[in-house]
Amino acid sequence: MNNTLLTVINLNKAFFMNQQPLDFFRSRKKNTIKVIDNISFDLHHGEILVVAGESGSGKTTLARIIIKALNADSGKIIFDNRDITNLKGKDLFRIRSKMQMIFQDPYSSLDPRMKVFDIIKEPLQVHNKGLKKNEIKQAIYSALSKVNLEPLDEISNKYPHMLSGGQRQRVSFARSLVLKPKLIIADEPVSMLDVSVRLQILSLMKKLKEIDNISFLYITHDLSTSRYVGDNIIVLYKGQIIEYGNLQDVITNPLHPYTKALIAAIPKLRQSEYSKIAVKNEFDQSTTYQGCKFLHKCIYAIDKCEHEAPNLTIDDKNHKVRCFNYKS
Ligand SMILES: Nc1ncnc2c1ncn2[C@@H]1O[C@H](COP(=O)(O)OP(=O)(O)OP(=O)(O)O)[C@@H](O)[C@H]1O
Ligand SMILES: [Mg+2]
Repeated sequence: MNNTLLTVINLNKAFFMNQQPLDFFRSRKKNTIKVIDNISFDLHHGEILVVAGESGSGKTTLARIIIKALNADSGKIIFDNRDITNLKGKDLFRIRSKMQMIFQDPYSSLDPRMKVFDIIKEPLQVHNKGLKKNEIKQAIYSALSKVNLEPLDEISNKYPHMLSGGQRQRVSFARSLVLKPKLIIADEPVSMLDVSVRLQILSLMKKLKEIDNISFLYITHDLSTSRYVGDNIIVLYKGQIIEYGNLQDVITNPLHPYTKALIAAIPKLRQSEYSKIAVKNEFDQSTTYQGCKFLHKCIYAIDKCEHEAPNLTIDDKNHKVRCFNYKS
């Protein structure tokens, strides 16, 4: 049986960038910046794949391309055994109910004028027309129970402002769950929540994966908490996957200098071996690269790194790294 839910193949996306604010009016001289750079990966049924990387590395853009809120310049997306790259109209509409997105800000992602019951009912009305009143109620209550929001009658009648941040994010999950999705893309779903409730929301993701076999693309800056829930991890740098592997393996044995620096920066994860790993404090404004995109920050760079771009190569069974000199 094919256990792969999502396959992304050689995805590329560049945005136009004005060189100077006035260039747009003067000569329309534009520059492009490659934000998604030849990204390929598989996501399996019931897998939580963490996507980590600094701000601007392309995490949200990748998510928007996968849910088809944005078109890639090239590449392919296979979802549930179907090529969805060029899907439009009704076909796209149908697929959309099977992949849902949860956003960072639970305060602005829910309509403040609607009660919880109606917030969760809305996607059902759009995608599952023809449901009877009692079936709708049952689906909503079942979604609320799955995300541990109780008592059901009381919660259903509340407005978003009457709920805590953690409860609102649970409502966002319930709203996705009523459509019985196969994939949930969660873009920094806990970064705006109190530290005390973050782990509860992450545990909820783990429960949904285990009970309903839902797959997650979990986008985060936070490597220290992601290790409690993630199965595998992609580390992005300037739109490229620079490391991929089993999450525990990557955290205990990071190969790329950027991943090592990320892990060394987290006190709870820091291990003596990585405690001194640092990056050069240099600012890079390049938009095109002949060699490695990490060159300007790298303390291990060798001559080759300046002229040749490293490929993502397999070090171990399922651990990949994009670096010529990762063993040093
Ligand atoms: N519509 C757009 N037009 C032009 N540039 C864009 C657009 N959307 C994103 N970008 C640029 O693409 C790059 C990647 O952005 P993206 O939002 O994907 O990063 P991110 O990894 O999600 O960052 P963060 O952690 O801050 O959310 C950034 O440099 C951003 O400015
Ligand atoms: Mg983002």
